[in-house]
Amino acid sequence: MIEKVIDQIPSPCYVVEEQLLHNNLRTLDMVQKATGAKIILALKGFATYHTFDLVKKYLPGVTSSSLNEAKLGKYEFGGEVHAYSPVYLPNEIDEMLDIASHITFNSLNEWERHKEKTMAKGVEAALRINPEYSEVETDLYNPCVIGSRLGVRAEQIGDELPEGIVGLHFHTLCENGADTLERTLQAVEEKFGHLLHQAKWLNMGGGHAITRKGYDIELLISLISNLKDNYNLDIILEPGSAVGWETGPLVATVLDVVENQGTTTAMLDTSFAAHMPDTLEMPYKPRIREAIEGGEFKYNMGGTTCLAGDFMAGYAFDKPLEVGQKIIFEDMIHYTMVKTTTFNGVNLPNIGIMKEDGTFEVLKTFGYEEYKSRL
Ligand SMILES: Cc1ncc(COP(=O)(O)O)c(C=O)c1O
Repeated sequence: MIEKVIDQIPSPCYVVEEQLLHNNLRTLDMVQKATGAKIILALKGFATYHTFDLVKKYLPGVTSSSLNEAKLGKYEFGGEVHAYSPVYLPNEIDEMLDIASHITFNSLNEWERHKEKTMAKGVEAALRINPEYSEVETDLYNPCVIGSRLGVRAEQIGDELPEGIVGLHFHTLCENGADTLERTLQAVEEKFGHLLHQAKWLNMGGGHAITRKGYDIELLISLISNLKDNYNLDIILEPGSAVGWETGPLVATVLDVVENQGTTTAMLDTSFAAHMPDTLEMPYKPRIREAIEGGEFKYNMGGTTCLAGDFMAGYAFDKPLEVGQKIIFEDMIHYTMVKTTTFNGVNLPNIGIMKEDGTFEVLKTFGYEEYKSRL
């Protein structure tokens, strides 16, 4: 319970709760053990490398979307480094192939361009396929929209896997259940079944909400087992959010309270735009631990940048908020630290960890140098 150490937490601060991360890893490992599938960490969603000693006890590697992520995987994680990028940069591909054990190409052209080097370096190569089926409702996160630039459609490949390609890879889920995976696999098998028979492995991407309460793990296990039996495939999953799911909050502080035309806003030392960008991008309203449905005292939460839309409406509390009071935004570990900006020159939030023994440690603080170094 972070309430016990709340006075030690420098605001604003992402607090990774080691115990919760450990629970998620045990759940993922249970799926690995039951199916023989490999579950690797998607660094784009969770790259808090201070926790990697724990994560690598359970997961055999990472997947990277860029050379920087591949390097983080190699130097801070140390297991298998898989790679997928919609397009590889000419000045990075050689180093990428030195680091990666598995690499997925987004188009047949990309494969042709990098085939010789990839095969010479002995890196296992795959194609990203577009099954043209996704249940993701927000277009920003839907790789199967008409005209999508992500993945190769079945008719573009034909009857045979290109020489040298040993894997297939799809990523079409986003925080979905195993029932969505089941329907997605129907589309994959219908369109790509003949190629699955030729492949050595299938990477089913991320977006599997395996660690969310109520996720149907038994169904996932049976879907993986069927695939392995029917096609003799090795199965890989590469979740990001499922690893960091509900593993800790962002702790912020009320600095001021302003009133305007009947709206009361609590001004915080954090920013939705800079520190919780998915809340505006997705968009979604993050939960606040102290807020209650129907509470008498109603507030908007105001971010610290001058962007007019840097606020979140519609929170209620049973007592008036006070200047100096801490506000705990729930589930702020995955896709936050990896996406923060210093827009307006605001500092990045501190990063801390609450260890399994209940102690709190600050891992990182940020200041002028970090702001300046990215300009
Ligand atoms: C190719 C690929 N793999 C894995 C992931 C991780 O997805 P998630 O964090 O939703 O599990 C993503 C996320 O966008 C992705 O694009």
